[in-house]
Amino acid sequence: MIYLDNAATSFPKPEQVYRGMDAFIRSAAANPGRSGHRLAVEAEAMVNETRMLIARLMGFKRPERVVFTLNATDALNMAIKGVLRPGDHAITSVLEHNSVSRPLNMMERHGVITLTRLQAGSDHVIDPDEVAKAFKPSTRLVALTHASNVTGTIQAIGAIGRIVRERNSVLLVDTSQSAGVVPIDFDSDCIDLLAFTGHKALLGPTGTGGLLVGERVEVSPWREGGTGGDSSSPVQPSELPHRLEGGTPNVFGIAGLREGVKLLLDRGVESILAHERALIAEFYRAIKAPELFNWYGADRAVAERRGEGRIGLVGINFSEFEPAELAAILDERYGIAVRAGLHCAPYAHKHLGSFPQGVVRFSVGILSTAEDVRQAAAALNEIAAG
Ligand SMILES: Cc1ncc(COP(=O)(O)O)c(C=O)c1O
Repeated sequence: MIYLDNAATSFPKPEQVYRGMDAFIRSAAANPGRSGHRLAVEAEAMVNETRMLIARLMGFKRPERVVFTLNATDALNMAIKGVLRPGDHAITSVLEHNSVSRPLNMMERHGVITLTRLQAGSDHVIDPDEVAKAFKPSTRLVALTHASNVTGTIQAIGAIGRIVRERNSVLLVDTSQSAGVVPIDFDSDCIDLLAFTGHKALLGPTGTGGLLVGERVEVSPWREGGTGGDSSSPVQPSELPHRLEGGTPNVFGIAGLREGVKLLLDRGVESILAHERALIAEFYRAIKAPELFNWYGADRAVAERRGEGRIGLVGINFSEFEPAELAAILDERYGIAVRAGLHCAPYAHKHLGSFPQGVVRFSVGILSTAEDVRQAAAALNEIAAG
């Protein structure tokens, strides 16, 4: 199988991740912070080490404010519902995943907030000036993706962060597609809340994710329960990370995430981004007649801008087949795994003009090879030749 669906989840995971999970589940998988025995203490130390590694990767100085969640969706809901209050205004964009759009839409529909959804330019980038213009006196939150899972474009988060900071509002960044592959600097990019998922480019297993909570923000817990310490308190303790971490954390998953993040810190995120961009360029070059396909971003990325400002994914369509049919042919005849459809980001497809059918998305990862993308291109060449 040639796996080109890394934007959905990275696969396979590096050996180090498998080994780390196996060793942990066999030796120290006790309940962290719940008991005083050495296995519980060891589990807690592992969880806290992972907070530290993630903080280092993201340029964040407060590891105790790294809160573990189930995935990015959980972290984004925690941030959106924990910050917005009745009467607030929020700004978002057409490039968002449903894990940002749906909670905001629901709050708008229930009359809790008002919402502005910014359009993207023809380069699939949100113009920071448009963010500035959308501000109202009641704007509490700006919620944006760092890199789109549909267009692949990386947003100017630092420029937007400075605008949001000047207006004393809160910037929430969805790094589901960028964490582990695009350099992130929480402090210098003026980020207040950063949601990440552990199972994509951070190379951990599913069931991991988190929220980095900057010092300017208060997030109310949306899940309350046991935190290990402070059991006599009738309500959730006030200090982070426990305030937002009710319930036993996914220690097994976090043990894998720790190994993924260690590997990224060793290798350097820039080198992984360069690797993934080179693969997308190779994929495009290996297509014999690119004009036979509709390209959603890659033509410009590869031919004109050499892939700068993008992550390692590209969408295509071929007029003879629906996206789902083309993906099924790639799977069944060629053993190539890709993702067709709307990718949980309907507004992004409306922006691209590919709604409602979507596109076929090819996404590479740290372990993808030039041979993988050449074989995918060869399959498309054969399909196009009939
Ligand atoms: C941009 C973006 N945001 C959020 C998510 C949600 O991530 P998860 O499914 O891990 O919650 C995804 C996953 O595809 C994504 O691509």
